[in-house]
Amino acid sequence: MAELVSEVKQRTDLVELISAYVPLRKRGVNWIGLCPFHSEKTPSFNVNPERGVWKCFGCSKAGDCFSFVMEKEGIGFQEAGELLAKRVGMEWVRKGESSEQRGKRDRLLDVCALAERFYRQRLRDNPGIQDYLTRRGLTPETVDEFGLGFAPGGYEALLTWLRKERVSLEDAQEADLILTNDHGRLRDRFVERVIFPIYDIDSRPVAFGGRTLRTEGGPKYLNSRETQVFQKGRTLYGLNRARKAIPASGFAVAVEGYMDLIALHQAGITNSVASLGTAITETHVGILRRFLQGDGDLVMCYDGDSAGVQAALRNSAMFEHAGVNVRVANLPEGEDPDTYIANHGADALRALLNRAPTLLDYQLSLLRADYNLSEEANRLPFVRKAAQIIAQSGSHLLVQEYGGKLTRLLEKLADEWYPGDPHRARQAMISLAQEVNRLLRLEPKSGIAAAPVATKRVQDGRMEAERYVLRAALSENRWAEAVARRLTCQHFASPEWAAVAAGVLGNADGPVAEAETRGGSAAFHIHARVETVRNEPALSSVVSHLLVDETPLSDEGLEQCLHLLERSVDEARLRELDRQVTAAEIPAEDARFLEWRDLRARLGGRKRRED
Ligand code: UTP
Ligand code: MN
Repeated sequence: MAELVSEVKQRTDLVELISAYVPLRKRGVNWIGLCPFHSEKTPSFNVNPERGVWKCFGCSKAGDCFSFVMEKEGIGFQEAGELLAKRVGMEWVRKGESSEQRGKRDRLLDVCALAERFYRQRLRDNPGIQDYLTRRGLTPETVDEFGLGFAPGGYEALLTWLRKERVSLEDAQEADLILTNDHGRLRDRFVERVIFPIYDIDSRPVAFGGRTLRTEGGPKYLNSRETQVFQKGRTLYGLNRARKAIPASGFAVAVEGYMDLIALHQAGITNSVASLGTAITETHVGILRRFLQGDGDLVMCYDGDSAGVQAALRNSAMFEHAGVNVRVANLPEGEDPDTYIANHGADALRALLNRAPTLLDYQLSLLRADYNLSEEANRLPFVRKAAQIIAQSGSHLLVQEYGGKLTRLLEKLADEWYPGDPHRARQAMISLAQEVNRLLRLEPKSGIAAAPVATKRVQDGRMEAERYVLRAALSENRWAEAVARRLTCQHFASPEWAAVAAGVLGNADGPVAEAETRGGSAAFHIHARVETVRNEPALSSVVSHLLVDETPLSDEGLEQCLHLLERSVDEARLRELDRQVTAAEIPAEDARFLEWRDLRARLGGRKRRED
């Protein structure tokens, strides 16, 4: 793996690769241009083709060809590897994949591409089905762009064609396009259905959904089962077409269905993806998070029925947990995004998306609808439940913000409950607000407790320094590199940050260690580790606590803190050696003796020599 990565890197002409995104001109050994990662008027983006690295002196981003395409295309390491390898005429082998498996994958992709062509052609031959799609509001251009097709009846249409084309039926079965019926005969998987090809991020068809035209009998949609080229948990329908629009617009829209997704794109809302009615997985979340580049919102726009609301809440929780801000668009009962556009127009949907409330506001409004607050007996239960929802949001800042919001809401409501009796209104409001405060303070979140009380100032300084270097490491790659270069886990004494430190420095098991085995440059490892730490649900509370702090960081500040931490470890070591030397545990020829002398000279200074 490591050789493959380095070979791809060596063969990649970084200037040529990057020039496809931004014009570069030569200056000295470097090529410079306007940074493709932040907006600027004077070029501070540097590419060094000999070393195969790039760096922006403006926004401090830096990396190699892998990190460049990962960042620009919003794709993962494997996908970047495939893309880069193809450019230089090499074959990318995924980790743990044999060449047979690789060959099989290629053949399945081929058979899917052939089937897609077949279904599209059958749609072109069939005005009736074209009519159906027109009636559903799709233009011929949209039908073409989304590769829609038609699977004819008769159970053998595709089968016969594949035979004629001499395509391996075994591969077609493995791609779940052909199956064996109860009598052991081969037959088509999709029969008399409108076909929605599902594309991977590189716009290759990898699976299909088929919609029945009947109103009864059988499921409305049939979907390919998972194959070697199609994993439901990693696939988002429409992402191949949304990959540019999501980072460009800074937010994404999530819908449930094929038709919803297509209707949104046709209406120009091209930053949308569909989960196809399946449960959102951690992988889905990770993928979308990458495209949102850390700070974009995700707007959930699910069906306006109770199943849709439940699914939206369930999926939102996963995204919020991973640090994505979720808003929830509230569709009227009985509508889905597709019918909403058909009934009210694209602008109406756009407005709905724009004013979609945050997840917390949405949850609180759902809760409010459940309680009749004009009855006094319902008020305390409502407040308790609301406080619980707020407390669960996990972020200290949100708890404070929404605690305040809830109090203001109660104030407003109290005025309505007791019109013309400001005294009673105030009494009611105060007792409920007290409950809010009590409950929200009762639930301090783990990891974001107030700074630990240190007994000595030195310890305080050390803890602060640990915090500072971790904040720096999580904020900017070049700082992460400096930290990883100079510190090890032993430099971190406070337990709060130990897990983050271990993650950034690479001494942890699990996801972090996994990133490690992917190959790539040292800097790449460090960036990947930081990414993993930032995305690790178990660390999200500690990490957000570190990142919420907005006091400015600087190179000088970091240097001071690094120095302080290095020094405190050295000093501890010197104390230990002092003890051993005094106790005559170390013979003069022992390496520790030299270490002791060096440390003394370096740290001891005049003070030590005097005593
Ligand atoms: P819906 O039932 O909301 O369908 O399912 P829809 O998308 O609005 O479809 P139209 O407008 O009637 O054509 C939402 C999604 O759930 C999956 C599909 O991905 C569908 O788009 N689904 C639904 C299935 O996989 N199988 C089914 O039988 C039904
Ligand atoms: Mn629909």
